[in-house]
Amino acid sequence: MVTSEPKESARLRRFGTYRIVEHYFIMITFSILVLTGLSQKFHEFELSNWIIIKLGGIDMARLIHRYTGLVLAAATAQHLAVASIGLVFRKWPASMVINAKDFTDAIDNIKYYFGVTNSPALCDRYDYKQKFEYWGVVVGGVLMIFTGLILWFPTLVARYLPGELIPAAKATHTNEALLAFLVIIIWHIYNSIFSPEVFPLDTSIFTGGISRERMAHEHPVELARAEGKPLEEIIAGHHGETYKIAEGD
Ligand code: HEM
Repeated sequence: MVTSEPKESARLRRFGTYRIVEHYFIMITFSILVLTGLSQKFHEFELSNWIIIKLGGIDMARLIHRYTGLVLAAATAQHLAVASIGLVFRKWPASMVINAKDFTDAIDNIKYYFGVTNSPALCDRYDYKQKFEYWGVVVGGVLMIFTGLILWFPTLVARYLPGELIPAAKATHTNEALLAFLVIIIWHIYNSIFSPEVFPLDTSIFTGGISRERMAHEHPVELARAEGKPLEEIIAGHHGETYKIAEGD
């Protein structure tokens, strides 16, 4: 939840240390897994050979991949445990849950981008694009962990479950890896670096801070709640401002 002083162009706190550390963690583990996994998948490329040799050979690349996979599994389990405890016992708002408004927000933004309306969708703490990315990472991560473990222990799995599961896990793991890599490169990097709304970099997940101006533009519903103001006042205050990123944001 954003905490704020109701001042124009103030900087607000959007993320706490825990979320910042989690993001660094997933950035690093995902990069290592992509590097060591895709260089095995595309082993015929010069670049893959170069990466594998620099890592100390194929055995070392496989070892790094598997143990980084275990680290990802532990991080995913703690994330889901903390989220469940927070939602059930500490009554955290379920801000990542997909709801009907996300669909109407997407339609509102399409109208805005085509110039049919003058203002973008009025989103809450996370918009539909952020929810799409979040659930992609969670669901994709769980899939990668299960299929990765099947590939790691094929004989153990085949002792209890149908053997067909092993080639199926291989196809899922390798294709989902490529899909996740492309989604991150094309979608996530665009949204956090190249999108004109944040260029040259959306630093909020690294510093925890965001400008009030961006909050009014991108998350007006949350800002209204944080400042205890009616939504109309937030929109009216923002109306006519040239959208600009605050220094260092
Ligand atoms: C987002 C995370 C991950 C990505 C992007 C990824 C990517 C890949 C890729 C591209 C391959 C090569 C498949 C091929 O040869 O076609 C692979 C293999 C493999 N992965 Fe992953 N992976 C991820 C997570 C995991 C996890 C969590 C585990 C284990 C818990 C794991 C264990 C394995 C194993 C055992 C193999 C077979 C290669 C070997 O024997 O080392 N992976 N991975």
